[in-house]
Amino acid sequence: METTTNPAAATRRHRIALYPGDGIGAEVTHEVVRVLGALECRQKSEDPADAIGFELAEFRWGILHHTQTGSVVPDDFLERLEKFDAIFLGAVGMPSDLPDHVTLAPLIRMRQAFDQYACVRPTRLFPGVRSPLAGVGVEEGERGIDFVVIRENSEGEYVDNGGRFRRGEPEEFALQTAVHTRRGIERVLRFGFETARSRSRRRLTMITKSNAQKYGYVLWDEVLQDLLHDYPDVECDKQHIDAAAMNFVRSPERFDVIVASNLFGDVLTDLAGSIVGGLGLAPSANINPERRYPSLFEPVHGSAPDIAGKGIANPVAAILSTAMMLDWLEEPAAAKRVRIAVEKALASGAATPDLGGQLSTQEMTDRVIEGM
Ligand code: NAD
Ligand code: IPM
Ligand code: MN
Repeated sequence: METTTNPAAATRRHRIALYPGDGIGAEVTHEVVRVLGALECRQKSEDPADAIGFELAEFRWGILHHTQTGSVVPDDFLERLEKFDAIFLGAVGMPSDLPDHVTLAPLIRMRQAFDQYACVRPTRLFPGVRSPLAGVGVEEGERGIDFVVIRENSEGEYVDNGGRFRRGEPEEFALQTAVHTRRGIERVLRFGFETARSRSRRRLTMITKSNAQKYGYVLWDEVLQDLLHDYPDVECDKQHIDAAAMNFVRSPERFDVIVASNLFGDVLTDLAGSIVGGLGLAPSANINPERRYPSLFEPVHGSAPDIAGKGIANPVAAILSTAMMLDWLEEPAAAKRVRIAVEKALASGAATPDLGGQLSTQEMTDRVIEGM
């Protein structure tokens, strides 16, 4: 752990834990540190009374930590993280070196232990970025994309509940049982309804699969029905996950706020990222709305072993996740500054190879920082 910036002169301080992780996780986290440093400088030089300071503590956990110590994170990692105002994670996983379910377990543990039950994944097509979908774009007459997926992040299919039996025998079997609680469904749906209220279209779509899963998703349907009378101002529907996947491709412009279970939200948000230019642009926030525990910010993407070490990862998803973190830390002006700088860079054609350009990770961040 090391402190990387000097916030001595700052008026408002934020303590951020960095968990860069593996592969491009470390590369994009490095860019986030540069953006935070630039923000400190700009805010201070423009108005010293409005200065922000970030105390960054980096935790070098992940594959390397496992090689050195036999575990991905230390036993007390949650206690160490709990005292921070927010956590930023780059990405974890390197399946060639360690099975994913081992490397990724601490990430799922953080989300559950810190009760970050609302995973917020905004999906927007920016000017300057091409969607792979025909007729979708930001020009006059084209269909735009601007929705947010709220993924239940504390239970559902990600609960550690099951077992492997008769290992190695022909009759071997595995059981893995999802847990959907009325309280868990209700709180994430309410979060979704409030999010819909904060947006102009005020529309909510709940994802279900109650035509085949008669316990868990029928409960989801019933909880939604029970909540409708509290939100008469929000237009609401539900779609089965298979239909929603089709509609993400066929008519993405119709979505506004989407609430989905843990696994459905995971799958849908890779698709969502892909229709607005790829995972290199898709941010994510794991929120504990009651602020009892720190919230966790990370790009939607993983460690991208196929491009790791090449210096070409797109840092924008990580930078937009940082903007979400700034909003959560009640620094809306700083968040806006970062977001606008990203939009300007993309609109001016700045692009890494995933977007069809030639900029390196560092050059892409330079373009964002110039616009700040
Ligand atoms: P991935 O998201 O890492 O990569 C999918 C594809 O998108 C790859 O072709 C990759 O090159 C591209 N891509 C992703 N992020 C990019 C970026 N910032 N810039 C340019 N291109 C980018 O998914 P994967 O390959 O299925 O998984 C790799 C590892 O990451 C696995 O170990 C997986 O379990 C893990 N994973 C971790 C997280 C996380 O840490 N939150 C999320 C997803 C996957
Ligand atoms: C994500 C990732 C994680 C998830 C993995 C890494 C456990 O895919 O954040 O979308 O499935 O939640
Ligand atoms: Mn995912």
